Amino acid sequence: RDEPLVLGIETSCDETGVGIVRGHTLLADAIASSMEEHARFGGVVPEVASRAHLEAMTPVVERALAEAGVKFADVDAIAVTAGPGLAGALLVGVAAAKAYSLGLGKPLYGVNHLAAHVAVDQLEHGALPKPCVAMLVSGGHSSLLLVPDVATSVISLGSTVDDAAGEAFDKVARVLGLPFPGGPHIDRAAREGSPEAIFFPRGKYDDGTFDFSFSGLKTAVARWVEARERSGEPVPVADVAASFQESVVDVLTRKAIAACREHGVKDLLIGGGVAANSRLRALAQERCDAAGIRLRVPRPKLCTDNGAMVAALGSELVAAGVAPSHLDIPADSSLPI
Ligand code: KG4
Ligand code: ZN
Repeated sequence: RDEPLVLGIETSCDETGVGIVRGHTLLADAIASSMEEHARFGGVVPEVASRAHLEAMTPVVERALAEAGVKFADVDAIAVTAGPGLAGALLVGVAAAKAYSLGLGKPLYGVNHLAAHVAVDQLEHGALPKPCVAMLVSGGHSSLLLVPDVATSVISLGSTVDDAAGEAFDKVARVLGLPFPGGPHIDRAAREGSPEAIFFPRGKYDDGTFDFSFSGLKTAVARWVEARERSGEPVPVADVAASFQESVVDVLTRKAIAACREHGVKDLLIGGGVAANSRLRALAQERCDAAGIRLRVPRPKLCTDNGAMVAALGSELVAAGVAPSHLDIPADSSLPI
């Protein structure tokens, strides 16, 4: 009860998320998504996302307060995603957070979106082991992080040099005629197919870095499907989905385990929208078991973008005694970790 009540705001992409936490206890996780508005464009349209955030901000904040059963005056600190993300989208959340902070006379914490994806796991599994390795895979990012302390020290080990993992899922889904966002559809289709039907390339598999590359894979799948279509034969959607998915999760899990080994870390956390992938979860568990590494994956609603993750990191910053942000902090679309 003594721990501060922290309200977190997330608007880095298409989700307007507002979460409320006390310590590691999740009290509210309200969300509005503009995904349906983007679906007909086959990807997130920044202008559309910004406008949707503006419209959703006040109602979502009100819903979060109601869900938590608290009043605005009870809130002790405001946390907000300051970056990285879409500039216009971030601006809406940062402006709102500044207004709430000023109006309430409560401290403001501008936080890093990737660190928030890590901190959210504490709401489900309790305090994070120090250190841990985190792999964040979504439509916007694919990163391997070494996390000595999520409040004060998060170190980037590597990231994608081209497409994000989720982006590859979405692009391949499009090639296969599946709806956007494609990840869940590929996951489902893959269950009926064989991961060994077609061998697709594994980008940067043995390069000794913790970076990823998925654009060559995406092109290889597109070429394979085009050749099939030209020959007049039907495209085996389930086999292509399963074989593509296997290439992605093979590389992801291999590099994540290698990062743990290299840094002598015994706990691996996986987050981001792609962490919902059933094959990724299964293969990560299998390889962690074999390597003596404990695996933590938050439930899907906490893996995708949400406000609770921002509140969770804000709460951690308050607890660590980190100084609040100034009221003039910028929204930074390429904020480094
Ligand atoms: O974290 P998120 O909701 O938003 C950001 O991109 O930040 O992640 C969305 C991404 C999309 O690319 C979506 O296709 C992918 O996560 N995704 C999946 C699955 N569920 C969502 N990818 C593979 N398998 C899934 N089951
Ligand atoms: Zn994210």
